[in-house]
Amino acid sequence: MNEYNDNHITNPSQPNSSLYEICERRFSRRVFLKTGVALGVGSALGACDANQVITETAWRDNNSYRSNFDFIEIEHGIDEYHHVAPNHTADILLRWGDPIFEGAPEFDVNKQTAESQLKQFGYNNDFIGFVPLPSQESLKQSALLCVNHEYPLAGLMFPNIGRDIEGAITAQQVDVTKAAVGVSIVKVDLVDDNWSVDLTSKYNRRISALGTEIELSGPAAGHARLQTTADPEGRNVIGTFNNCAGGITPWGTYLSCEENFNFHFSGEMNESHPEIENYQRYNLGTDLFYWGKYDQRFNVSKEPNEPNRFGWVVEIDPMDSTSTPKKRTALGRFKHEGAENVVAKDGRLVIYMGDDQRFEYLYKFVSRDKVDLQNKQANKNLLDDGTVFVAKFYVDGQLEWLPIEYSNPILAPHFSSQADILIQMRSAADLLGATPMDRPEDVIPNKNTGKVYVLLTNNTQRDETNAANPREDNAFGHIIEITEEDENFAKNKGRWDMLVKCGDPAKPEHDADWHEQTSKDGWFASPDNGVVDPNGRLWISTDQGAKTPLSGTADGLWGLETEGELRGIGKMFFRVPNGAEMCGPVFSDDGESLFLSVQHPGDDESTGVSRIDSALTLWPDFQEGVPPRPSIVVVRKKNGGPVG
Ligand code: FEO
Ligand code: CA
Ligand code: CA
Ligand code: CA
Repeated sequence: MNEYNDNHITNPSQPNSSLYEICERRFSRRVFLKTGVALGVGSALGACDANQVITETAWRDNNSYRSNFDFIEIEHGIDEYHHVAPNHTADILLRWGDPIFEGAPEFDVNKQTAESQLKQFGYNNDFIGFVPLPSQESLKQSALLCVNHEYPLAGLMFPNIGRDIEGAITAQQVDVTKAAVGVSIVKVDLVDDNWSVDLTSKYNRRISALGTEIELSGPAAGHARLQTTADPEGRNVIGTFNNCAGGITPWGTYLSCEENFNFHFSGEMNESHPEIENYQRYNLGTDLFYWGKYDQRFNVSKEPNEPNRFGWVVEIDPMDSTSTPKKRTALGRFKHEGAENVVAKDGRLVIYMGDDQRFEYLYKFVSRDKVDLQNKQANKNLLDDGTVFVAKFYVDGQLEWLPIEYSNPILAPHFSSQADILIQMRSAADLLGATPMDRPEDVIPNKNTGKVYVLLTNNTQRDETNAANPREDNAFGHIIEITEEDENFAKNKGRWDMLVKCGDPAKPEHDADWHEQTSKDGWFASPDNGVVDPNGRLWISTDQGAKTPLSGTADGLWGLETEGELRGIGKMFFRVPNGAEMCGPVFSDDGESLFLSVQHPGDDESTGVSRIDSALTLWPDFQEGVPPRPSIVVVRKKNGGPVG
């Protein structure tokens, strides 16, 4: 979801722009779809022909440095297919609608029901967590994939819905969209170099916006601002949605982040309502999904506290499919992008968190207690106690992490308790003078080097720059590297440095900054998610949305050098089909498998409402009548060994 979180500013310290930016519409290219070509799911389906004759040696002849990424770079471009570096396979593992339980119905676009969707893989897969399982006989490897399903796109899910989705969408279709979001947990096995889903697994689970009970936990649980008609205690919420990125804790639980929850609510709030400041600060007032049309829980004029029950980080135990997920209120409420985490030198857990909207902030949570790596159960309530810090960047390269605590005399007059602060954390961060950023997405600690990578995706409404966000009208984003004091992730001071300023280094108007040996395909725009692989190398995936024409290439995955003389060289590894963004990169523990999320293939964000009959691609099935399907792709090296 690029355009909407991009186009609103609700930080009162910034020039307000409540109107949508007129987006770039120069890109009106339509791909003529191949019809009647029914490809089976299997090897490299929908992929380009990777049998290019270029060799790694030849690539090096043209690129004189010795890369830490041992693959042949692919080219920028835009087409209907996915592309991976030569000598790798890129197979479709799971598509939206694929059964994840034995006996679940096969996907049928014309027979979608909430009941069947709850037994199938959800829509718009985003984050992927990889949780290895103990090895079993006859299987090379088994693991649980923990997958977020961010948001529905009714125009690409239902045939003939037309452009007036709000008018056309039925109650039954709304329920399908509620069932299609949330989370899937799926056991996958590696057999003969191919990953497949184990439909019989006791671990397989769907968590959705429809029916899943979730407990509110931590300091804000039970607070009056979390109480509703259906839940007068303020402790139990039905569902989670807009689950964007996340993290896996050292004790094997899955953190799923609620991001643009605001767009799921309809109804107006009176200017004199006690929640009005909160409502405005979190950008409510634009309903993109029409759930409130049939369910007054999602209408703020009926249930003004319901939005306060979303915007949290949800902790899920993937090893127990009967466990109740918990919204960990100690981590604060905002538009949570991700929750990548690391154990600090002193044994406490540090979770890095971006709030993805223009001019919002970078946060980290530091647990009060130490992680117990011997006894996983001992950590089951670790995330209920700790401190959230917000980042302030200084021109001289210093970084300060400001604790957000009720005991602070700057905050106390404005709030009634720490719980009150947690519910409206953005306003507390405003008061502390945190640095407004260019849309913080994933924040990735590298435990091997003590550094942290902050992915800032873009902000085309910035007029006033600051040191850490140095470009006006920042269409391409940038990546900041943080080095925490004493390489201790729990410290409240650090240093920061620019790693790359994204965009095309050959175009002076982009004001991009890369290592000079970055190739014509090695630069990228709008970094969104990333991962440090088992060899300590950083990989970045992108989400340009309607800004794709500015770069001239589809989104994808790039390796990015971070150390020594190579620092700042990007190298393109994977490209998504037209209309998609790339998210979720995660490696198996041995580095030999890479799981990738291809989200919203075919979606033409410049049109506002994408439809199946004008989709930019019918990937991955390429079958007439079958919509493009968000899918997980698994990448392996052809003759074995680490990917890339
Ligand atoms: Fe869901 Fe910030 O991307
Ligand atoms: Ca994201
Ligand atoms: Ca994004
Ligand atoms: Ca995204």
